[in-house]
Amino acid sequence: MSEETIKYETFQNPKGVHDVLPGDHEYHTYIKKVVRHRARQAGFKRITTPVLEYTEVFNRSIGLDSDIVSKEMYTFEDRKGRSLTMKPEGTAGIVRSYIQHGMNQWPQPVLLYYFEPHFRYDRPQKGRYRQFFQFGFEIIGESDPALDAQLIQLAAKIYEDLGIMDVFSIQLNTIGTPECRKKYTQALEDFYVGKERSIPPEFRDLITKNPMRLLDKKDEDLQILAQLAPSMKDYLDKESLEFHEELLSYLDELDIEYVENTKLVRGLDYYSKTVFEFWDKNEGSQNAVGGGGRYDGLIELMGGQPTPAVGFAAGVERTIANMKREKIRVPSKDELHVFVAQLGREAKKKSLPLIEELREAGVKTMGALGKGSINIQLKIADKFDVPYTVLIGLTEVRDGTAIIRDMEKGIQETVNFDDVTKRLVELIGKGNLDKYSPDELLYS
Ligand code: HAM
Repeated sequence: MSEETIKYETFQNPKGVHDVLPGDHEYHTYIKKVVRHRARQAGFKRITTPVLEYTEVFNRSIGLDSDIVSKEMYTFEDRKGRSLTMKPEGTAGIVRSYIQHGMNQWPQPVLLYYFEPHFRYDRPQKGRYRQFFQFGFEIIGESDPALDAQLIQLAAKIYEDLGIMDVFSIQLNTIGTPECRKKYTQALEDFYVGKERSIPPEFRDLITKNPMRLLDKKDEDLQILAQLAPSMKDYLDKESLEFHEELLSYLDELDIEYVENTKLVRGLDYYSKTVFEFWDKNEGSQNAVGGGGRYDGLIELMGGQPTPAVGFAAGVERTIANMKREKIRVPSKDELHVFVAQLGREAKKKSLPLIEELREAGVKTMGALGKGSINIQLKIADKFDVPYTVLIGLTEVRDGTAIIRDMEKGIQETVNFDDVTKRLVELIGKGNLDKYSPDELLYS
């Protein structure tokens, strides 16, 4: 077989994971900018924990009976037989890091935010992927319902900035302290025992393991039972009730609308007291766009000092899907301003420093491609959809000039070669330049 005829099989990405192509990166960049801006305003600093953690970090924090740990983790043994897991969420790793780096010695509370990929071996479907990005916030070291309120407000502000808060409702509940939850869990177990026939077989072991998880399942029979089941409200102790009442009063003060949802429990074991989710008003709990809550016992459970904390995380893909559905467009910063077309080796030589000068001035420029005729290069310029093209032919090299062509209007002007950058900056407008100056960012 000759070399040309060999055909190799092409590759596809694994099921449930995706390329983030340039079009979607514009959304990623924009969301990241909004998150960073709002985070900084509120004193949060960015953290990145590794993709890999020892499996025990997640087993102990999220809980062995949770869906995430029991079914959805990417766990493997490394070459020395240690069990490692690709992070399915951010909170557990951050708590590990808080303890490991002695962050309890930092000014409290410690406010951290992240924008990271996470991995869950879920059944891929709309809004549910095996690799997905989350942005999130953790406030560690202080127990005050005013922090829960501010965190909910921060999440709502980000969604307002992204133009989609109107399509969400904030679902809010308290699941109390571990002590009152113990009593409630027992009451729920007593309620569900004997009703196994109405409970789908795959959920029956939750009756003894984690009956609260039966409350927010989508199954119709379980929803009917949940209506009849004992209510958490009747089991809340004074501390949990007062904390919740205070949180509600702060949310009211901040004019934040919420829905009190006593069936909301969330799927991770580390929560106590406040839990909340942002639901798409059309889709309900199916694809919550974000969720969080208080986890006052987790730091101690992970080996640290008893330390209260509250946090929130949102799915970036679900956020983008909502933005697209609501026809929210983000500014495209990737579009070029100028294409430089030239004819002949001399012109090409002259165009290289010009391209450099334009880029330094903040003009997004591309050019000096190939040896095609000016017409062919103009066609390339058209494909890149640039507003302006610079043409340098033999005459221009001889005269020390260049032609600037307005691609939309189809008109052109001849300018002195040395004035090309100045003229283009005028045409594009100073406010539209893409300027970056690293030395501005350094202190010495
Ligand atoms: P979570 O509810 O498991 O909470 O995830 C937060 C958000 O991540 C979800 O609301 C959803 O938008 C997105 N998400 C989760 N799984 C997937 C998936 N398979 N595909 C696409 N998006 C997904 C947590 O992870 C907690 N760590 C939140 C938290 C922070 N609690 C306290 N601090």
